[in-house]
Amino acid sequence: MNKKIFSGVQPTGNLHLGNYIGAIKNFVDLQNQEGNECVYCVVDLHAITAKQDPIILKNNIRETTATFLASGIDSKKSIIFNQSLVPAHSEGSWILGCIARMGWLNRMTQFKEKAGKDKEKASVGLYIYPVLMTADILLYDATHVPVGEDQKQHLELSRDIAQKFNLDFNAPNFLRAPEPLIQKNFSRIMSLKDGTNKMSKSDPSDLSRVNLTDHKDQIMNKIKKAKTDNDPLPDDDKNLSQRPEVENLLGIYSSLSGQSLKNSINEFSGKNFSEFKEKLADLGYIDLEDDYCKHAENSFDLESIRNSSLKLAYDSMFGAGKNVISRLLPETIQIHDDDNPGFHGQAPEPIHRNLLEFSELIKTNGNIDCGLATDGDADRIGLYNSRGEFI
Ligand code: TYM
Repeated sequence: MNKKIFSGVQPTGNLHLGNYIGAIKNFVDLQNQEGNECVYCVVDLHAITAKQDPIILKNNIRETTATFLASGIDSKKSIIFNQSLVPAHSEGSWILGCIARMGWLNRMTQFKEKAGKDKEKASVGLYIYPVLMTADILLYDATHVPVGEDQKQHLELSRDIAQKFNLDFNAPNFLRAPEPLIQKNFSRIMSLKDGTNKMSKSDPSDLSRVNLTDHKDQIMNKIKKAKTDNDPLPDDDKNLSQRPEVENLLGIYSSLSGQSLKNSINEFSGKNFSEFKEKLADLGYIDLEDDYCKHAENSFDLESIRNSSLKLAYDSMFGAGKNVISRLLPETIQIHDDDNPGFHGQAPEPIHRNLLEFSELIKTNGNIDCGLATDGDADRIGLYNSRGEFI
């Protein structure tokens, strides 16, 4: 079966080796497999769940796109675009938010971690972020979603939302429940300073991660300082789980060298850490730099790549036979019609007015060509496209 792949990465600062090994490396492999259709999204709407400086965010969107390209994602083979340019992501998210249950969202461990102790002060956006992620995936009818291990729970939620929608509206297989693609090994790369914590952009210590933009000497320095323990490198994997830092470094080595953990253990058994770390640092330097600079500095090139990708993204969504959002919206409304005939007629005055104002607002400020509105006779609410046609 040909796979329809969708995945996303937040443009929130330097991407690191965890993003690369857990996700981006697989994006490239999947793109290069015959017959796959791949959509890779820079999820800027997810990024604003935390406060962002607009100028830095814009720059991070460019940097993330440049890193995609420099890592080998080819804009001729894959669709690359940024989420906020396709309003259907936000609109789909609202509809699916009416399907998802509070109890499901309350279980999301990433929200608990990110919100910390004072969750009353966390943004609502951070709380409903997995619903937006679900909309991203379901809009494109994705069959498979490559992610690192930390996103597994969000993908299970996506499946639950899709299944509940189909059940609620007696529409079997209407929304496709996506399959997660999580590597068996090395799907969770840990901090260089603490093998029990995930390598993360938000760790205050830069020494905890290898950024994809780090120079060779910076990487050498970070790997040299990476935490290990007093025992020698192991001969087998028996007690490795009790040595999380060593397990993590051997895992990174195995993933980047494309060999099994067992082979890496054999390669270094009896050797000292300094020899191992030197080899690891060599591998950890992924030669993105030249390509990265070329793409990041050439904004015209990037813009044109993004624009043509955007067109493809629209084609993919609104194209014949793949028009998921246009399937989603009218059917939702129609199905609600059966239960609530009032919904079909003109919306009550304040809602009607607000919708029109909302749509005007996003048209003038957002420079977009698709929005929510009522049709000419104001007896229908739905999505319309750039030609003013209801979809
Ligand atoms: P984000 O931006 O945090 O991370 C992007 C990808 O990198 C993986 N990753 C890791 N993998 C292994 N070890 C690590 N230490 C590590 N850190 C990050 C993540 O699992 C992810 O695959 N919600 C998502 C973005 C998203 C998305 C989507 C993904 C939005 N919509 C739709 C898939 C489909 C996120 O915040 O990823």
